[in-house]
Amino acid sequence: MAVQDTLGRPLRDLRISVTDRCNFRCVYCMPKEVFGPSFQFLEREELLTYEEIVRLARVFVAQGIEKVRITGGEPLVRRDLPLLIEQLATLDGLQDLTLTTNGALLPAQAGPLHDAGLKRVTISLDSLDDAVFRAMNDVNVGVDVVLAGIDSAREAGLWPIKVNAVVKRGLNDHTIVELARYFHGTDVIVRFIEYMDVGTTNGWVLDHVVPAAEIVERIHQVLPLEPIQANYRGEVAQRYRYQDGGGEIGVITSITQPFCGDCTRARLSPEGELYTCLFGTNGFDLRALLRSGAKDDELGDAIARLWGIREDRYSDLRTEATTDLNRVEMSHIGG
Ligand code: GTP
Ligand code: 5AD
Ligand code: SF4
Ligand code: SF4
Repeated sequence: MAVQDTLGRPLRDLRISVTDRCNFRCVYCMPKEVFGPSFQFLEREELLTYEEIVRLARVFVAQGIEKVRITGGEPLVRRDLPLLIEQLATLDGLQDLTLTTNGALLPAQAGPLHDAGLKRVTISLDSLDDAVFRAMNDVNVGVDVVLAGIDSAREAGLWPIKVNAVVKRGLNDHTIVELARYFHGTDVIVRFIEYMDVGTTNGWVLDHVVPAAEIVERIHQVLPLEPIQANYRGEVAQRYRYQDGGGEIGVITSITQPFCGDCTRARLSPEGELYTCLFGTNGFDLRALLRSGAKDDELGDAIARLWGIREDRYSDLRTEATTDLNRVEMSHIGG
């Protein structure tokens, strides 16, 4: 039985961020003015080793975790990632193991990741308009690079493939329909994400959010859609299918229709801090416990205790008053 929090939500998903570094500087996530040459990223010794990550993951699985997602930063910039995947893939009780990547390094790594036991991937791609995409990743990476990453994932047998697109008004919202159309009739599921106020550096304002209802409506005008049932309770994305049988899309509505009520996600930072909300301000230092020689049952008790007192529902409560807190960055804790 998974441990439950104060609102009766079980601990089911663990998102493990393996690095706070990234080869992109997406303007809504790692603006260059903040994440420039002098930005202090974590030192190597601060990072959890793969051995430590696997040990914690095993303890988490014993507490109810069924699904693990590897994130970052950009997880593929961490050396020898397939070695981590290989060990996580063998954990008894784990039903889903996946990864979120910007795709640029996938051509070199999709095969080894699949062979190590990774089942599927989610690839971020905010626009098919090359100029728009280059302006968004801010490191001049072209759309062709990410499309090659998607192809290599498919060739390697990673499936299903999902594409995440963050929509920011005035930046890429005029390219939503083009993105939907490109993947219409393929096996790739595009999910459009409402731009969120994660962290404190991206200059988020409500005016930049394009409500999911508007996104769906714009696509529906051109390619008629109908809503479909969630795959499982607590699924983050709301699903729609094309009426002509051309597959499905998803929208992630954390601003206009928050989904905290079903939130079963815990997040582990690269240096071993446990966050019980994406909008947390500080995490619980599991690394200190681990490196002080704690046994597995002590680690498990600490996790259960922390989850047991969890009250987080940031998106449900989002107000002006909470917007100036010292929140953790998305590039640190993962999506
Ligand atoms: P599947 O396992 O394929 O169903 O993916 P998922 O629904 O877990 O989605 P994914 O991990 O790709 O998350 C997509 C995006 O949703 C993230 O990049 C975040 O922007 C947002 N998101 C995911 N989890 C949360 C959450 O707990 N709270 C909020 N506010 N947003 C979230
Ligand atoms: N709002 C919504 N989604 C975001 N992501 C990063 N920053 C934000 C934000 N402010 C997305 C990325 C990627 C995933 C890890 O999170 O585009 O798909
Ligand atoms: Fe890197 Fe992903 Fe953040 Fe873009 S959204 S800067 S790819 S971590
Ligand atoms: Fe979960 Fe926090 Fe996101 Fe709400 S805001 S869905 S509690 S991570």
